[in-house]
Amino acid sequence: MSYADGTPPEGAAADWTIPQRWERYSAAEHALWDRLFDRQAKLLPARAAPEFLAGLDVLRLGDSGIPNFDALSDRLMKATGWQVVAVPGLIPDNVFFEHLANRRFVAGNFIRTPEQVDYLQEPDVFHDVFGHVPLLANPVFADYMQAYGQGGQRANGLGAIQRLARLYWYTVEFGLMKSAEGLRIYGAGIVSSHGESIFALDDPSPNRLGFDLLRLMRTRYRIDDYQQSYFLIDSFEDLLRQTLETDFAPLYEQAAQLTDIAPADVLPEDRIYTRGTQAYALAKGVAG
Ligand code: PHE
Ligand code: CO
Repeated sequence: MSYADGTPPEGAAADWTIPQRWERYSAAEHALWDRLFDRQAKLLPARAAPEFLAGLDVLRLGDSGIPNFDALSDRLMKATGWQVVAVPGLIPDNVFFEHLANRRFVAGNFIRTPEQVDYLQEPDVFHDVFGHVPLLANPVFADYMQAYGQGGQRANGLGAIQRLARLYWYTVEFGLMKSAEGLRIYGAGIVSSHGESIFALDDPSPNRLGFDLLRLMRTRYRIDDYQQSYFLIDSFEDLLRQTLETDFAPLYEQAAQLTDIAPADVLPEDRIYTRGTQAYALAKGVAG
């Protein structure tokens, strides 16, 4: 998501966008994209939601090298009316919401270093473009992201950004979906991570629980390692319908009266698909 305050850095526009400067990527940087792409492309056909895989194709993300955002935006615009614009990194919440509400996805233009192939804190172009953009070619998910931006502008005024950020985290970044072929991953943080693409579906450690809006808004999350709980949606249609039809203001108020839920906790009212052992997190010394 977003994260900075104040005014845009030098060289950035008032809306924090910058030129991608595609011609400046080195051959080594393009080769790093290809390496990351090939690794995920092998893994994902049996794991990612079909909508994600279709987006990779339609947008031709398998073409060699870091995508040029202008060419990518042309294809995306034809599919769903979205664009991809470059930003220097972290941007303020309200700026982030404003872009989404106008069907503009903000992406970092830099790529990780070869040492960061498996782990990075700040989202780079591979996470942002490979992870997020394919689903923006899906009309239903595209509408969800725009509605999320509008919901963010509203949450801003209600002092509830943190609640809404949790919804983003457990859907857009780390969501799982039920499908005819079994569980599938669709969250950008999972599909862009080799390790978590396997862990999220196959590992006995994490909980896999049914999606519930208020529950998600109460659940803290970790940004430093694999998730301890994942939430399952039935479909993008269902996710969009639930979020559009629900007035979040009363939910924010309810959440404020209730305690936060730790990342690994399972509640009596949860719909449990897998109760995790938390062995992975415990081995790393994280409280279960
Ligand atoms: N319905 C939400 C509200 O009342 C807006 C929203 C829609 C938020 C979709 C997120 C996703 O604020
Ligand atoms: Co992301």
